[in-house]
Amino acid sequence: MSSGRSSRIEGFYKLPYEERVRIVKEWAGLTSEEVNALANFGNLPRDIGERMIENVIGAMSYPFAVAVNFLINGRDYLVPMVIEEASVVAAASNAARMLRHGKGIVAEAGAQEMIGQIHIVNTTAPHAKAARIIEHKQELLDYAAQQDPILVKSGGGPRDIEVRVVDTRKGPIIVVHLIVDVRDAMGANAVNTMVEAIAPLLEKITGGQARLRVISNYATRRVVKAWARTPVENVGGLEVAKRIEEASIIAEADPYRAVTHNKGIMNGIIAVALATAQDHRAIEAGAHAYAARSGVYKPLSTWEVDEDGYLNGYLELPLQVGVIGGATKVHPIARIALKILGVSSAKELSEVMAAVGLAQNLAAIRALVTEGIQKGHMRLHARNLAVMAGATGDLIDKVAERMVKDGRIRFDYAKELVERALRGEQI
Ligand code: MEV
Repeated sequence: MSSGRSSRIEGFYKLPYEERVRIVKEWAGLTSEEVNALANFGNLPRDIGERMIENVIGAMSYPFAVAVNFLINGRDYLVPMVIEEASVVAAASNAARMLRHGKGIVAEAGAQEMIGQIHIVNTTAPHAKAARIIEHKQELLDYAAQQDPILVKSGGGPRDIEVRVVDTRKGPIIVVHLIVDVRDAMGANAVNTMVEAIAPLLEKITGGQARLRVISNYATRRVVKAWARTPVENVGGLEVAKRIEEASIIAEADPYRAVTHNKGIMNGIIAVALATAQDHRAIEAGAHAYAARSGVYKPLSTWEVDEDGYLNGYLELPLQVGVIGGATKVHPIARIALKILGVSSAKELSEVMAAVGLAQNLAAIRALVTEGIQKGHMRLHARNLAVMAGATGDLIDKVAERMVKDGRIRFDYAKELVERALRGEQI
């Protein structure tokens, strides 16, 4: 049934901020308190927020934490993490401590190359045209390079052109890949500008139409590897280490488990991505595609126990991140996050993120194969319920402990306990 209201609001984005807020307030029946809460931009100045995205009516804060204990490539890091899920930061810190053996977690990223795609349709003799594109390779690379002299000056820029003829249900198309070394940027802007610029040249060469001209988030030329080797004692002994290996084997055999296994890895990676204002959707999309590169969805990491009594973890995934440009430099908190992290390049940031993913994964599967993940979660959940039920100060832990002890972690019980405590009863 129609409510009689229309969400068709012409020029909403052009309205002054106050007017946008007024419209939404009226639409949703927001109270003044709710509007004030929404309008609290916290540590994101409103003018910056309004420049970042459109139709802004407020801001939303997430907790910003640091994971401790990380030793990566022989260097210590405090890792900023932004996430709404309890236990993730504690788990990362805990696993990082277990992996402080030797140089700690080793991580290695290569050249920071992104792929820009141009899909050419409506062309005849596609293979001959593909060859013609290769003949014009240098001219295309030169023209692409002209679009971003600053990138070229910093040592980056277009590196190569690859061409494929791909069959579709409407006949063959030509897919052109422009390979660009994007250095310390995530690269979407630079690459998108370049592919849009060379598209008309490709149309001239092929006689076809350059339909899609955009970066591929399947960043297979930006793969990062992270590995770690730690004595089994550091993870709770041989039996626990063997079960961690078993969990890894199970994930390799069962895609339903592999997705959750990888979700645990992404818990850590995306939390760092959020803290440093990365395009986390790109990272997720690329990572999951990589997990399915064999045609079957697989875990991004593996765990093995070796004959010398060490647990070995290995993780490999593409990471498209930047430390210049985009929101990283615009959001004041992202800048602070990068300062805390102390990374000097996109390559280093991606290495840290992969290391965090590996530690996060270890923490998750170690918990799963020992006490399970609910125990820790429920303790935190109980505290949240206690707060929601009105507990403050010491009462929060008292109510939470009682709920855990009684095995009744529910809001109604939290409320009952708070009321009893406030009446002066012993709980
Ligand atoms: C929860 O956010 C993540 C885990 O489910 C990951 C895993 O199962 O490996 C614990």
